[in-house]
Amino acid sequence: MPPRLRIDRHGIIVENTHYKLGYQFLRGDLKSMTIHHVSNYAEMCRKAANMISAQILLNPTCTLGLATGSTPIGIYERLADAYNKSDLDFSGITTFNLDEYCGLSENDPQGYYYYMNEQLFNKVNIDRAKAHVPNGTAGDIALECRRYEALITAAGGIDLQLLGIGNNGHIGFNEPSSAFEKDTHCVELDEETIIANARFFDNPDDVPRRAITMGIGTIMQAKKILLVANGEKKKEILQKALYGPITPMVPASILQLHPDLTVIWSDT
Ligand code: GLP
Repeated sequence: MPPRLRIDRHGIIVENTHYKLGYQFLRGDLKSMTIHHVSNYAEMCRKAANMISAQILLNPTCTLGLATGSTPIGIYERLADAYNKSDLDFSGITTFNLDEYCGLSENDPQGYYYYMNEQLFNKVNIDRAKAHVPNGTAGDIALECRRYEALITAAGGIDLQLLGIGNNGHIGFNEPSSAFEKDTHCVELDEETIIANARFFDNPDDVPRRAITMGIGTIMQAKKILLVANGEKKKEILQKALYGPITPMVPASILQLHPDLTVIWSDT
């Protein structure tokens, strides 16, 4: 049966009746995704920050899943603005970042812990003890993955997970592969990812080859998912992810099965 499409003034609501078979283990019945198509990056960030703010206002002790990369920077700026205007209180929330490079410490400017400090944590009243990023310098990476997964479970799971998408369709650092990896794990980064992320490093050879990432199961168990993407270069992969076949070769395609997925897509 082809997917049923319903279009409203905000964009497109897709009721996906596809791909039920074999995936029910993840989340039960298929639900819908809401896509907001906006014209520019600022609007994308405004909408995303509003959604995250609403989550914090409704539940001041909620658990957020956070993402890195260039896409969410404007979202974090707006959240910090809301904090400065006394509109938001981060003191009760818990956060879990999606991923971290292996070998980069908390103080490494290219690491994601450092990124989170710069973009958000240093600017708001978050309790650092409750702001989690995988430890890329752990002596035993497999143990660190298990510890991180257990921490998320102990926190009661993630209420709202913010996601970007890689040029190859990765979410977190779940790279295209022959199978979806369920839990937090260590991954060998794709050459395409290493090249794409080299822009953040002085020397492309410095890009770590491995990373710790939440698994697809960890991400899919979040109660709500907010996927943001912008610019022409993400258009094709986003289309594949949202409308193409669900396959581990396009890891973000699994999001079609999430019961509460919002996508904010901006042209620029
Ligand atoms: C990294 C992160 C992803 C992120 C991706 C996209 O690889 N691990 O979580 O979605 O970058 O980055 P950008 O937003 O810079 O395109």
